[in-house]
Amino acid sequence: MHEPKSSSQDPAPPRRVALLGFGTVGRAVAKILCERSDAQLRLTHIYNRSVARKKQPWIPNDVIWTEDFDAILNSNVDIVIELIGGLAPAEEFVRSALQARKSVVTANKQLIARHGPDLLQLASANNCHLEFGASVAGGVPVLPALRTGLSGDRLHGIAGILNGTCNYILSRLESDRIPFSEALEEAQALGYAEADASEDLDGGDARSKLSILALAGLHARVSPTGIRARTIRTIDAVDFDYAADLGCTIRQISRAELKNTTLFAEVGPSLVPASSPFGRVQRNLNLVLTSGKYGGDMAFLGAGAGGDPTAVAVVSDLMFVAESLSGGPRPQSSLQLTSPKVSCNFETPWYLRFWVKDQPGIIASLAAILSAHQLNIDAVLQKPGFDKNALPFVITLEPCRDSQLQPALQEMSTQPFALRACLSLPILP
Ligand SMILES: NC(=O)c1ccc[n+]([C@@H]2O[C@H](COP(=O)([O-])OP(=O)(O)OC[C@H]3O[C@@H](n4cnc5c(N)ncnc54)[C@H](OP(=O)(O)O)[C@@H]3O)[C@@H](O)[C@H]2O)c1
Repeated sequence: MHEPKSSSQDPAPPRRVALLGFGTVGRAVAKILCERSDAQLRLTHIYNRSVARKKQPWIPNDVIWTEDFDAILNSNVDIVIELIGGLAPAEEFVRSALQARKSVVTANKQLIARHGPDLLQLASANNCHLEFGASVAGGVPVLPALRTGLSGDRLHGIAGILNGTCNYILSRLESDRIPFSEALEEAQALGYAEADASEDLDGGDARSKLSILALAGLHARVSPTGIRARTIRTIDAVDFDYAADLGCTIRQISRAELKNTTLFAEVGPSLVPASSPFGRVQRNLNLVLTSGKYGGDMAFLGAGAGGDPTAVAVVSDLMFVAESLSGGPRPQSSLQLTSPKVSCNFETPWYLRFWVKDQPGIIASLAAILSAHQLNIDAVLQKPGFDKNALPFVITLEPCRDSQLQPALQEMSTQPFALRACLSLPILP
């Protein structure tokens, strides 16, 4: 009997994988890797600070638990999974891994939103991969779709419900008209929102994700801080009553549209038709819609967070990288990125909600200001039954640019009868 000779048909050796961060997602990734027990991937190292307290009996004995990142860097690990989160030390670890020609898979939206273009270039220069499919919309495979299934199209628009916490709060206000503070407490109790939920509520989280979508789908280099984010804290339950009268509901929408050399982009609460795909997204789900020159509109819906769904996205990236390293698709060359001017000057119809102390002549005063700024009123809505000392009512405007509206808003909000600054929400189709 002869030993079979090795040939190109032999299965590739398993790719050696190190996991950085054994938290919610890291643990779920390790679970999948251990349960898969396939020949393609082999978990060899788990890195975490104070690692002894993290050890689990279901992790195979030959996996090395370590607090020493250099041990991983100097090992023969092929792929590093970064699930620590934040910028430090994650950024340094990812850079060092790529420089050591180890491919990296990460779910870190902060890192990719800030440094994605540079890190992609670094990966390309070292002929290895950087995959970040879980960094936007958790388990919803929108980034892999942008990388493969939609790469033949020329996308010009991406819009999404990218923050499950905001969607949970807004859809609770919608369904039961509970106060904002109560919906936030519920979201915190369910683990959807952190004790300090500012990043979610004020749009910081969603704009990081939007900048990653713009990078991957529109090939535009955009700093998250260059994207305007409006808070959802200004939304009241009564806004859902007025929105319903207009056939709409309210969602936090992140949108980016590339027109020539300008990227129109912003994040914030917006009116959307109740029967539209965005209007129907409930609780903490995510939805991303893409618009392409050739393929038209596509939709991606699912769980935007959670250990298991996010781990699925991480392991899928890992499998893609392992396959590529074994002679499948080559590491991507660095994307041809543009650096467009970023603007929030969208043209839309608008919903304006005022809280006023009632007195004669309010509508006339507001109409005069709007007219002076060449803004056309579409409708005036006032629900009966409110205390005249704190009366909410709504004016909707025909389409105009954001820049045209802003000075009028300032003027209207300083009128003596105004109890609060006027809330302005775009009305999306
Ligand atoms: N959770 C989700 O649903 C979700 C969804 C999409 C994307 N992501 C992203 O996935 C990544 C991981 O999220 P996660 O929810 O798994 O976070 P997590 O539960 O906080 O886990 C982070 C892990 O990293 C460890 N760690 C943190 N800082 C470290 C440091 N300086 N040195 C060594 N170890 C450190 C933590 O150790 P300690 O136990 O000592 O803190 C913890 O084990 C983040 O980038 C996040 O944005 C998460």
